[in-house]
Amino acid sequence: MDFEVVQAAPGNWCEAVCDALLVVVDEHTAPEALGQVLGGALKQALADGDFAFKAGRTLYLHHPGGVKAARVVFAAAASAAPKALRAAVLAGVGAVKGGGTRDLLVAAALGEPFGAAHAQAVVAAVHDAVYVYRHTKPSANEVPKLQRVRVACGADQEAAVRPALARGEAMAAGVALARELTNRPANHCTPSDLAGEARRLGREHGLHVKVLGRKEIEALGMGCFLAVAQATHQPPKFIVLEYRGAPKADRPVVLVGKGITFDTGGVSLKPAADMDEMKSDMGGAASVLGTLCAVASAKARLNVIGLIPSCENMPGGAAVKPGDVVTSLSGQTVEILNTDAEGRLILCDALTYAERFKPALVIDIATLTGACVIALGHLRSGMFCADDTVAAALLDAGEAALDPCWRMPLDDEYGEALKSNFADMANVGPRAAGAVTAAMFLKRYTAKFPWAHLDIAGVAFKGGTNKGATGRPVPLLTQFLLARAG
Ligand code: BES
Ligand code: MN
Ligand code: ZN
Repeated sequence: MDFEVVQAAPGNWCEAVCDALLVVVDEHTAPEALGQVLGGALKQALADGDFAFKAGRTLYLHHPGGVKAARVVFAAAASAAPKALRAAVLAGVGAVKGGGTRDLLVAAALGEPFGAAHAQAVVAAVHDAVYVYRHTKPSANEVPKLQRVRVACGADQEAAVRPALARGEAMAAGVALARELTNRPANHCTPSDLAGEARRLGREHGLHVKVLGRKEIEALGMGCFLAVAQATHQPPKFIVLEYRGAPKADRPVVLVGKGITFDTGGVSLKPAADMDEMKSDMGGAASVLGTLCAVASAKARLNVIGLIPSCENMPGGAAVKPGDVVTSLSGQTVEILNTDAEGRLILCDALTYAERFKPALVIDIATLTGACVIALGHLRSGMFCADDTVAAALLDAGEAALDPCWRMPLDDEYGEALKSNFADMANVGPRAAGAVTAAMFLKRYTAKFPWAHLDIAGVAFKGGTNKGATGRPVPLLTQFLLARAG
């Protein structure tokens, strides 16, 4: 899709030639400011009770007189905040996306000037609205025809809005990639498929991509990763992607993504209900690919490495058993008390592997614990980071990208839960503070670099009738990295 900025005052929006004009309003919008035609229509609709300044409300007008656009949609926002604008644009585009609209003009008449954050929110919402999953459902609703989106702003805002649209587009491409891969069922998104996607991404954006197979993973000594992968017939893959946007001497940020393409729990088998949703247990891996896509599209001036340990977690005759002790790449031994706590096992070896890049920072992203869903629900990712500056930057990036996270604790005392009589540590503790003890496990593999951990179990995938992936936390990560690149 193509986004452009246009300078247009509210009074002139009725003159814009386009297939559809989306006018976002909030309760501070004075209908008069929209000129006689649009303002008059809005007033009339309010008076007739066909529209209200209530979030979620839209009004569709087909070929209204005095307007050059073939269609006009009014969409109400709860406030002038970017988050409210995003919701209104999502609803407004929803009203026209199934029709003949190829060329859309988005115009916001809110209580505050339309700035960079608003522009970014519009791009995210439009992409969100038109995404259709088709990989294994080619019969799904026809793909929306929308191709060109213009975004109206005032003369003073244009300089900020233009780059924000470009940033938003880079981000949206990354979100779409993560969302698509996470939606794909496990038999269409195996570790080998993920490796193929990584290679394709590499060709498209000039990334260096390396994929290690089982033999190489064995030769390295990734005993924890291999323990998870030992019952599956799908070959495990360890995927390494390198984006070099800065001089070689610049220490990279390393992103490590959990790539469990299906999590049955293994011998510690999960219950049957909703187990299909465990195809999304590679959401962290997908967000690493999506973020690299976004950062490369934006030509960000920094170095980013992506590491993806990927396998299935299956039961079977060859499966790892509760009580088995394995040796991690770091040399530390682990007693696997619960085979369903597999994410930390594949991540700990990837974290040790990250040492070779002399990282400025390592961030792992994982659908790691049900406990994080209990703690934070589906709104905010759990963020764990001992460094206050990095933690603040991640929080800020989440707010700015409308992909929020919340800081969780890492006190040493929580680590006591992982004591084992038979190994350096157990892979699980008691139920209490399960998201924190999972983070404490990972922390033991991060002594050599600054580190942050994002538990995205609650945010990467939605259940229910609108079941599907969200593409999160690609916006947060992209915003964070672009801010860091300056
Ligand atoms: N992939 C799951 C966590 C998960 C749960 C992700 C719900 C998305 C939604 C993870 O591998 C897991 O099974 N964790 C266990 C850990 C427990 C055994 C300590 C859990 O959360 O129950
Ligand atoms: Mn599990
Ligand atoms: Zn898992």
